[in-house]
Amino acid sequence: MRDKMRWVWIAGVLLAGVLALGRLTAMQRLSQSELGDPLPGLTDEQLQRFMAGKQVFERVFTPETGLGPLFNSSSCAECHENPVSGGTGDESETHATHFTPPATCDLLEAQGGPVFQQHATPSLEAAGIFKEQVPPHAQVGGRSTPPIFGFGLLDTIPDETILEHQHRSGGRAHRLEDGRVGRFGRKARVASLLEFNAGAFLQEQGVTNALNPNELLPNGHPLPAGTDPAADPELSLEDLLLANDFVRFLAPPPRKPPETRHEARTILRGQGIFFRIGCATCHTPAMRTGPNPIAALDRQVIHLYSDLLLHDMGPDLADICLGDARPDEFRTAPLMGLRFLTQFLHDGRATTVLGAIQLHGGQAAAARAAFEKLRRNDQEALLTFLGSL
Ligand code: HEC
Ligand code: HEC
Repeated sequence: MRDKMRWVWIAGVLLAGVLALGRLTAMQRLSQSELGDPLPGLTDEQLQRFMAGKQVFERVFTPETGLGPLFNSSSCAECHENPVSGGTGDESETHATHFTPPATCDLLEAQGGPVFQQHATPSLEAAGIFKEQVPPHAQVGGRSTPPIFGFGLLDTIPDETILEHQHRSGGRAHRLEDGRVGRFGRKARVASLLEFNAGAFLQEQGVTNALNPNELLPNGHPLPAGTDPAADPELSLEDLLLANDFVRFLAPPPRKPPETRHEARTILRGQGIFFRIGCATCHTPAMRTGPNPIAALDRQVIHLYSDLLLHDMGPDLADICLGDARPDEFRTAPLMGLRFLTQFLHDGRATTVLGAIQLHGGQAAAARAAFEKLRRNDQEALLTFLGSL
C-alpha cells in the first residue's frame, strides 16, 4: 500500500513537471516578439507614435504630395518590405563617387552624387530627364536594401563603446568631420538614425523635409520649370519624427527557437565555432545602449553581431569611397535577423550565407580560411547557428 502511494506520488510529481515545462515553452513562445513588433516596454503614447509612424513609413507619395522629381521609389516600405515593413527588398540602388588614393573622396555632389536616382516623375520625364547619369570617371557601387529592425537600439549605443572595439577587432570607426562616430549605412557614414531617415526621404523619394529642405537637382542642373509642384518642405516635421519613431521603436529580430534538442546543441556548437575561428571579433555578439530617457532604449543589451566599425574587406568586394571610408572598407554587417535575408553583402551579390562567407577578403581573409579548413559537419554547425539569428 505504501509502495503504491509512493508511485502515485512520483507519477504526480512527474506529470506536474511535464505540464509546467509545456506551459513554460508555450509562454516563451507567446512572449517571443515577432518580426516587425515594437520594442517591449514602450508607453501607450510611444506605441501610438510607433503605429502612426508606420503609416508615414508606408505612405506612397505622388508628385502632388512631394514625390521626386528624382526618386528611387515612392515609399520607404516599398524597399524595406520583406517579410514586413522595416525589412529588406529586391531594389538595388546606384551609388557613385570618385576616389583619389590615398584618401581623397569626391562625393560628386555637384553632379548629383553620391546617390544617383533611377526614376523621374512624369513631368520631369516630359522635360527629357528619366534618371540621373553616372559621370564617366566615377566608381559605381550597387546597394541592396538592408533590414532596419532594432536600429533604435544601435542609435543609442555610446560612441565610446564603438571606439573601445577598435582595439579588439582591428577595425576603425568612421569619424565624421564633426567628431561623431558614424554607424548607419553600409559605410557607416551617418551618425544618427534621425539624420539617416530624414536623408532617406530626400534621397529615395525626393521628399524634402526639415533637415533636407532643398530638392535634388538632376546631375546638378536646375529643375525645369513646373516639374516640382509640391511646396517645400514636402513632409511636415511631425511626420518626419513619427516615421523616425516607427524605425527607432522597431524591436530587434527575435531568435529562432530550436525545434529539437539536437538542433539546440548544434546551434551551441556552431556558436562556439563562430567565436573560435574569429568571426565574433568583427561580428561582436552584443553591445549595451547608453542611458536614455525612453525606458525601452535605456541601457538595453542588443545582440547585433557587429562592431559597427569599418574593415578592409579586400579588392574583390571594393567599390566606392564614401566620406572617410575607402572603397575596400565596409561596416561589419549586423547579423541579427540574418535568417530573413535572401541576398547578402552590400550589393546583394551573394545568394547564400555560405557564399557571403566565401567572399570575405582583406582583414577577414584569415577567418574565411579558418572556415574553409573546418570539417564539413563543423561548417554545417556554424551555418545552423547563423540560421538561428
Ligand atoms: C529605393 C529603395 C529604398 C527606399 C525607398 C528606402 N530605403 Fe532605406 N535603404 C536602402 C538602401 C539601399 C540602404 C543602404 C544604403 C547605404 O548603405 O548606403 C538603406 C539604408 C537604410 C537605413 C540604414 C541601414 C543600415 O544598415 O545602417 C535606414 C535607417 C533606412 N534605410 C531607412 C529608410 C527610411 C526611413 C526610408 C523612407 C524615408 C527608406 N529607408 C527608404 C533602400 C531604400
Ligand atoms: C574583419 C572583420 C570580419 C570578420 C573576421 C568576419 N566578417 Fe563577416 N562581414 C564583415 C563585413 C565588413 C561584412 C559586410 C561586407 C559587405 O557588405 O560587403 C560582413 C558580412 C558578413 C555576412 C553577410 C551579412 C549580410 O547582411 O549581408 C555574413 C553572413 C558574415 N559576414 C558572416 C561571417 C562569418 C561566419 C565569419 C567567420 C568565418 C565572418 N563573417 C568574419 C566583417 C567580418
